[in-house]
Amino acid sequence: AKAHLRVHLDEPVARITDRLFGSFVEHMGRAVYTGIYEPGHPTANTQGFRADVLELVRELGASVIRYPGGNFVSGFRWEDSVGPRESRPVRLDVAWHSVETNEVGLHEFAEWADDAGLEIMQAVNLGTRGIEDAAALLEYSNHPGGTARSDARRANGREEPFGITLWCLGNEMDGPWQIGHKTADEYGRLAAETGRVMKWVDPSIELVAAGSSNADMPTFGSWERTVLEHSADVIDHISLHAYYEETGGDVASFLASGVGLDRYIGSVAAIIDEVLAEQGLEKTIGISVDEWNVWYQSRFNEVDKPPLFDGGWNEHPRIIEDEYSVTDAVVVGSLLMSLLRNADRVSMANLAQLVNVIAPIRSEPDGPAWRQTTFHPFALTAAAARGTVLRSTVESPVVDTARYGAVDLLDAVVVSNADDGELVLLLVNRDVTTPLSITVDLPVAATAVSDALSIHAPEGGSRFSANTLADPDTVVPVPLDSVALVDGRLTAELPPLSWSIVRIA
Ligand code: AHR
Repeated sequence: AKAHLRVHLDEPVARITDRLFGSFVEHMGRAVYTGIYEPGHPTANTQGFRADVLELVRELGASVIRYPGGNFVSGFRWEDSVGPRESRPVRLDVAWHSVETNEVGLHEFAEWADDAGLEIMQAVNLGTRGIEDAAALLEYSNHPGGTARSDARRANGREEPFGITLWCLGNEMDGPWQIGHKTADEYGRLAAETGRVMKWVDPSIELVAAGSSNADMPTFGSWERTVLEHSADVIDHISLHAYYEETGGDVASFLASGVGLDRYIGSVAAIIDEVLAEQGLEKTIGISVDEWNVWYQSRFNEVDKPPLFDGGWNEHPRIIEDEYSVTDAVVVGSLLMSLLRNADRVSMANLAQLVNVIAPIRSEPDGPAWRQTTFHPFALTAAAARGTVLRSTVESPVVDTARYGAVDLLDAVVVSNADDGELVLLLVNRDVTTPLSITVDLPVAATAVSDALSIHAPEGGSRFSANTLADPDTVVPVPLDSVALVDGRLTAELPPLSWSIVRIA
């Protein structure tokens, strides 16, 4: 099969914000305990954080880090996690049927995030709590001093404010699984009133209202509209969460997940515009895709969740430690491409999550840490896609999908790095069995391919190949040898079911 990519050099879509490459650490499963933090581990630093995991976090190239939940935050009392460790209470976390020791809290996490070069995006509990606690946490975190709460922070060892700019107003409040689940009216009012008070405490913050948990929620659309009607004047971003999985062997639809995300983003953008216009508000509200990934959620709900929730209460049990395949890596790469394509509307995005829990990085207690297949497209994109997204169009054969109809076999995004004139092509071949020959017309100034890498089934493996504890480097980016650039025309043969990155000087 053959496809052509046209690059519209004079049509920038948007500057790429660093915040597109965010991630997420929740107090859930082994994300914190035996994930980023394990005092007895041979690589642990004096604070108990694992240096091997930290090294991989840096290599991943994430920017913003959402914390401390997720569903966890809707039952969380932030005061439990600050102050002398020996006096911190051990609590039941009913969101994940676990025991939370509060050994790691805001102070420890902030220090780790600083070391990792990550900006904290802090979520407040709007499940069981409300205005007072959210404002109190903000004052504790950001007020310089001279008040009881800010002085408590200083007494707890942090003289300077944490200076947290990004604040999530609760998490997935549209979901019946959420502690303190609310109707759109109930949540919209609470988010608006909490947000207003928080901005009175610190006007420099940015607020993210919780949108839908997924595009199949029965309330999707009306939820956004109602929440925005209450809060549009106060908030700066509205979230959407999006998880994808292959179901019933329908790999064609799974590989087209990026099309689903494009449409989901487009729908939320339309609702934002409508409410802003109706209310005559001269402002922009960004879309914060603050949880996205591949997650085999149906397996979790049907197979893993019942025994977890019917069993005993344990500290950091193994929860949703999905092992990712080549196919999953290609989908993660193409979801990132969807985020880039929509960079004019998406103000922030967080790969959910970072370590062990549906994560690009895995670690074993008292054992090694390694990169899952999905680590690679994220790290390569985060390192290279740092300029402006250009409009591009494809002429491609299509594949029929049960979920999204006819979809191009070629998925492509083009980034121009104005600083050094580099062009970056991100390319996916959605054909599961056949290579795709592509041609791309480039400006004549483009003279050399500086790097071309691809992720696909390894020699002797299959699309199900994964990186495991025993064999952590089964799936790694390999050179895309077929690339040629002659007189401004680039040609390449994209392997079946592959994600590729081509950098052109
Ligand atoms: O990331 C795992 C969970 O997925 C989060 O806790 C929740 O917000 C979402 O449903």
